[in-house]
Amino acid sequence: MEQTLIQKNTSRFDTIPELPADTFTAPLAKPDHVGLDWLEPKQRVYTAEEHHIWDDLFARQMDILPGRAATAFIEGLKRLDLGKGGVPDFGEMSEELSAITGWEVVPVPMLIPDHVFFWHLANRRFPAGNFIRTRETFDYIQEPDVFHDVFGHVPLLTDPVFADYMEAYGRAGWKALKYNRLKALSALYWYTVEFGLINEADGIKSYGAGILSGPTEAVFAVEAKSPNRIHLDVDRVVRTDYVISDLQPTYFVIDSFEELFAMTVDRDFNDLYESLDPGFTYANSAVLPQDKVYHKGTQEYALRGGAASLAEPV
Ligand code: PHE
Ligand code: FE
Repeated sequence: MEQTLIQKNTSRFDTIPELPADTFTAPLAKPDHVGLDWLEPKQRVYTAEEHHIWDDLFARQMDILPGRAATAFIEGLKRLDLGKGGVPDFGEMSEELSAITGWEVVPVPMLIPDHVFFWHLANRRFPAGNFIRTRETFDYIQEPDVFHDVFGHVPLLTDPVFADYMEAYGRAGWKALKYNRLKALSALYWYTVEFGLINEADGIKSYGAGILSGPTEAVFAVEAKSPNRIHLDVDRVVRTDYVISDLQPTYFVIDSFEELFAMTVDRDFNDLYESLDPGFTYANSAVLPQDKVYHKGTQEYALRGGAASLAEPV
């Protein structure tokens, strides 16, 4: 039964894509209680303290995000009423979200393998971590929890263009697997879905979930002198390395979700994948001659040693 979930032919998206034998993926051990789809049978039942942690994280972000977060994000938060108190119920949230863009939110125990993630996205299911951080890990957690996943990612799924981009990104996984270019496609996700900035009439705002779900980067990404802010160019971004456990040395800016869609979904990536080296070409702090630069970062934060040396996020 479980075997039939895995797909052999690559022209459809209703079963999990087969992972080519030579593809490198993070070695994730699947907990026994989840199947090949990695879905929890049901959402966790949170304790009162866990609901409080959500409320406190929510309140902290709402002090910071107005004026710094993309308009579409703030609107999505309001439409889904994610601040009504406690960790949102995935069932109720999915009902509201699916009425808007056809997306639902499904619970997973932890980070899931890329090919399974692609399959869920391609079917408009957003896998969200089921657990919530503790008071001890209030400021930083390595694994994405329900606050990062739901507060950070779900609001933008109410935007019709961004919602379509996310589905197309999932489908794009099939081709990236075939070309063994997961690294390149992941860099695109990193610099858009997780750490993307967008030009708005009154300045550059954040739309990336990795930025918007934490207090420090929500300010740093749009206001600090250290990081570069460069217009997003797909050929450049898929060749750019990224850091996963510190503030970003570079952010990439789009003009609109329509522009992002045109640059990615409407473009055939075959030639791009064929032209890529297996590794990254550019350091994550590089500024290249062809870049359209909004702000050339001082990189002072990174030069002072970043998080490891408790440098000020200036
Ligand atoms: N259009 C891309 C391709 O041909 C797929 C893609 C969609 C890539 C969305 C990124 C984001 O492979
Ligand atoms: Fe995320």
